[in-house]
Amino acid sequence: MALILAPAHPPNSPARLHALIPAAGIGSRAGTAGPKQYELLDGRLLVLHTLSAFTRVRRLASVLVVVAPGDQRLAAGEGYDVVPCGGATRAASVAAGLDELARRGASGHDWVLVHDAARCLVQPEWIEALIAACEHDTVGGLLAQPLTDTLKAEEGGRVQATLPRGGKWLAQTPQMFRLDTLRQALAQAGDAVTDEASAIEAMGLRPMLVAASGQNIKVTWPEDFALAQAVLRSRQP
Ligand code: C5P
Repeated sequence: MALILAPAHPPNSPARLHALIPAAGIGSRAGTAGPKQYELLDGRLLVLHTLSAFTRVRRLASVLVVVAPGDQRLAAGEGYDVVPCGGATRAASVAAGLDELARRGASGHDWVLVHDAARCLVQPEWIEALIAACEHDTVGGLLAQPLTDTLKAEEGGRVQATLPRGGKWLAQTPQMFRLDTLRQALAQAGDAVTDEASAIEAMGLRPMLVAASGQNIKVTWPEDFALAQAVLRSRQP
């Protein structure tokens, strides 16, 4: 797996695929002393479980993790590199990571799969399913799951309305788009977007929804660590 992409990818050659893993957040909702991506799950940093799935996907030309400036808790390893260019928001971290991919020689036509470091239960097969669904598409897409719970809008701690759940999906990651399109989309959308697809949608494009597993949770709340640990243990032979 190539980590340094120079010399620049020649024009007209087939698009390559890169994974970009933003891991520069502080995880304030997780109730942990430090950032949640560095909590131990089964004796291993949470982010290393995420990386273990990506480094097993043979189609990926590179895997790049974005950490906060000055953060030395994660070193480059087998099949992945680490760059300390994280920003104040997830969107800023992703935008900086895309710039770094381009600097390393990725072509604007290459696909980038952006994945939250905190979704540590992701499996190589799910990443491969997203690639298979999107690589011949003109826009790209994301893993997502149809909503099963009833959806409420809140106001002042009480239900303001029940919203129809039909046709509603929960967005997960990875989200897969062309490097140039995504850079342009994020530059236009600004820092407030919480996923890549919403920036792409703001350009008038319609990302593909690729049905995913409910196990692909983003570890967010204190109780999510025990859940993630239980799933990891259930997968052990
Ligand atoms: O905070 P949240 O769980 O939504 O973050 C999703 C992912 O984005 C996490 O992996 C987190 O580390 C990353 N992130 C980042 N830079 C930020 C904020 C979040 O890379 N400034």
